[in-house]
Amino acid sequence: MSAGRAAATRHDPPLSLYHLLEPDVVADPYPLYHRLQAEDPVHWDRFLHVWVVTRYWDVVRVLHDFSAERTPTPDQLTAMGLADLSPIAQVMVKQMLFMDAPTHTRIRGLAAQAFSPARVEVLRGHIREITDRLLDPVLPTGRMDVIADLAEPLPCIVTAEMLGVPVEDRRRLKAWSEDFAEMLGSFQHNPDRAPQILRAVEEMTDYFRSAMQDRRARPREGLISELMDARIQGDRLTEEEVIANCIVTMVGGQETTTNLIGNGILSLLRHPHELAKLRSDLSLIPSAVEELLRYESPIQHTGRLAPADVELAGRQIRRRQAVIAVMGAANRDPERFPDPDRLDITRQDNRHLAFGYAAHFCFGAPLARIEGQIALEAVLRRMPDLALEPAPLVWRANHGLRGLKTLPVTFKADAHPSAP
Ligand code: HEM
Repeated sequence: MSAGRAAATRHDPPLSLYHLLEPDVVADPYPLYHRLQAEDPVHWDRFLHVWVVTRYWDVVRVLHDFSAERTPTPDQLTAMGLADLSPIAQVMVKQMLFMDAPTHTRIRGLAAQAFSPARVEVLRGHIREITDRLLDPVLPTGRMDVIADLAEPLPCIVTAEMLGVPVEDRRRLKAWSEDFAEMLGSFQHNPDRAPQILRAVEEMTDYFRSAMQDRRARPREGLISELMDARIQGDRLTEEEVIANCIVTMVGGQETTTNLIGNGILSLLRHPHELAKLRSDLSLIPSAVEELLRYESPIQHTGRLAPADVELAGRQIRRRQAVIAVMGAANRDPERFPDPDRLDITRQDNRHLAFGYAAHFCFGAPLARIEGQIALEAVLRRMPDLALEPAPLVWRANHGLRGLKTLPVTFKADAHPSAP
């Protein structure tokens, strides 16, 4: 046992990330994360057959050095008797999220041209309009479900517009995105859900393929066209690569931003002092959004494979063994963030890992930040006396993508709901 590891007591349940499947732990995973950090920060999880890494600098090292090429290929699935799932794998292996350099560098370089901070900054005014349009109908009622009325539709509309597909299709995009997110966020897959996820992948593939055909006939703006047209030194993406990366961008942009807005408003309501501080000085919103990303990270963990035999914090990880890097824990590491369980919207030196780190650092981060800032500002400006409805909170079963199913709130109704 390494010096850092504390002795477990007889009464402690066995140490495992598996406990995230229990509703109490999903509601508050931080005691489990702190236990992992204290007892065994690089932990061989014998229930999941993976290494679980929870300390900040260890997570940084995994995200920096380890391989992202972790999805089984269609051939490997067939060899495991899971050929039915290979259409999902065929898409995933072409997504930048699951690639290493040089393939990753090429695809990301072509796609990222559409996502520079300067390119998304011009969307700020438009995102504000969408947010106001969503809030207008609920203002006279004095109550809303933050998730259904704002946190889900806002990123969904922004994503549809960003891709350049009709906003009327947004409910379909949302349903597909939720299905696919199950593949990304969970380490426990329900075999009964596989047919639905397969259907979603097939439908999304057909949808983006016909959107591409449409654009060849009638060119128009949006990420789909940008991915089709992007070129670096004559290189361009294939049709399958465009489709796979439209899917990952669509899913990446929705579930996560919904969770940022929902978890963020919940955290502020649970900390009335911080909420009051923010209301009295809205210039703190950018710093508050960073702290909310750290405090309740929308993506709690991600996976990697050891590129070679590696020693990490005194443990020997063998080549190709799987590792779960728990960003949600790293963001509460007391060795990196003083008083990590305290929400402090003015926190300095807040280099959290909510958007990941290194080569795969979220390329939608500038957009997500703008959406989070605008949603928060609109709610604070337009909804005085915001309060939680007294109902139990229900968290989504997807423990990788941490978010609420609903968030009912009340506020002082406004008989004249027009934006300031
Ligand atoms: C609060 C919102 C968001 C959070 C917390 C978030 C978080 C993350 C994280 C942690 C990663 C890295 C995963 C890994 O290393 O395994 C990532 C990658 C990615 N994100 Fe986001 N994301 C958010 C919003 C968005 C948005 C709005 C988009 C698209 C417009 C997006 C698209 C992507 C893509 C395409 C990748 C893969 C990048 C790569 O592999 O190089 N994300 N995101």
